[in-house]
Amino acid sequence: MSKITVVYGSVRGNAKAVAEASTQLLSTLGYEAELIENPTAELLQAPDMDALLICTSTTGQGDIPQNLVGLYVDIQDKFPMMTGKKAGIIAMGDSSYPNFCGAGEKFEELMHELQSATVTRLTIDATETREPMRDVKPWLTEWAESL
Ligand SMILES: Cc1cc2nc3c(=O)[nH]c(=O)nc-3n(C[C@H](O)[C@H](O)[C@H](O)COP(=O)(O)O)c2cc1C
Repeated sequence: MSKITVVYGSVRGNAKAVAEASTQLLSTLGYEAELIENPTAELLQAPDMDALLICTSTTGQGDIPQNLVGLYVDIQDKFPMMTGKKAGIIAMGDSSYPNFCGAGEKFEELMHELQSATVTRLTIDATETREPMRDVKPWLTEWAESL
């Protein structure tokens, strides 16, 4: 059974709540899912990690939330290849801002640069949904089945 590592970037807790609910859902579906609070680039090199799920909101002007900037910088610095490992990104944002889901886009580009086997992104628009898990559940179930 695939081992999935979950990380999140969140300012006011929306993305954190989605990351927690997603980890719970993956466990219920029978996957070994773990939510990591202070992730580092080494995490991506763990031989038993099959997939990385990044759940991030966007802050500032298309920026990554403070609690996830460290991982982004660390990955750019150490460049751990993701060959053979898959990445999923739940990008949360608000389409009334010019850089809609900019943080999710940055991580998507980075995962491609690391040659992740597959990179899949779901965008959640705060102007359209107050219940993000309604969109996340079917997407996440399909993503996990593809691992
Ligand atoms: C100060 C501020 C700046 C934001 N900037 C952006 C942005 O540039 N692009 C975007 O898509 N959403 C932006 N958002 C919207 C948030 O990403 C969205 O509300 C998200 O659901 C917040 O999740 P969080 O509570 O996990 O941080 C911004 C929100 C705030 C409060």
